Amino acid sequence: MIQAVFLKQIKKILHALKASQHASWAQNVAQPNLFGYHLGMPTPHTRPATINIDDKLAQISATWTPHIIAELNGQQVKLAKLEGEFTWHDHADEDELFLVLTGRITMQMRDESAQQHEQIVEPGEIIVIPRGIEHNPIAAAGTSVLLFEPAATKHTGDKVLERTVVDQPRI
Ligand code: NI
Repeated sequence: MIQAVFLKQIKKILHALKASQHASWAQNVAQPNLFGYHLGMPTPHTRPATINIDDKLAQISATWTPHIIAELNGQQVKLAKLEGEFTWHDHADEDELFLVLTGRITMQMRDESAQQHEQIVEPGEIIVIPRGIEHNPIAAAGTSVLLFEPAATKHTGDKVLERTVVDQPRI
């Protein structure tokens, strides 16, 4: 009986440690308090902190390098600073959302019949690139975007290029 209670406590502590490791990368949830768990306090997952987009953008210096700021349901929310032309690519299995925060994107696209067209995306606007559609963003100086896409999405699509950032940083 005493052993069972002891094991239960150990399990609780291990669970709390695991939660704290998870929380440390995210930096957007309250740090768990081991003592709090014993008192039945809310876990970090039940009291998420807000994420300030301007603060996160201030931590980014490299362009064309998506930074992960949140994760949910197998999807990731990312921020990136963009400037100049990226590269033509497509994503076979994922639709890709761009929300322009600052600057401007000229999104070049090629439709199914390989006809090229472009769409200007201004701050406060989103564009969703359907899977399989080739696209090439050209960004004005000072452009920043929020991206929302499945965790598996590579920003250069199926091509691995000089510009491909495999381990996208979490901030
Ligand atoms: Ni893309």
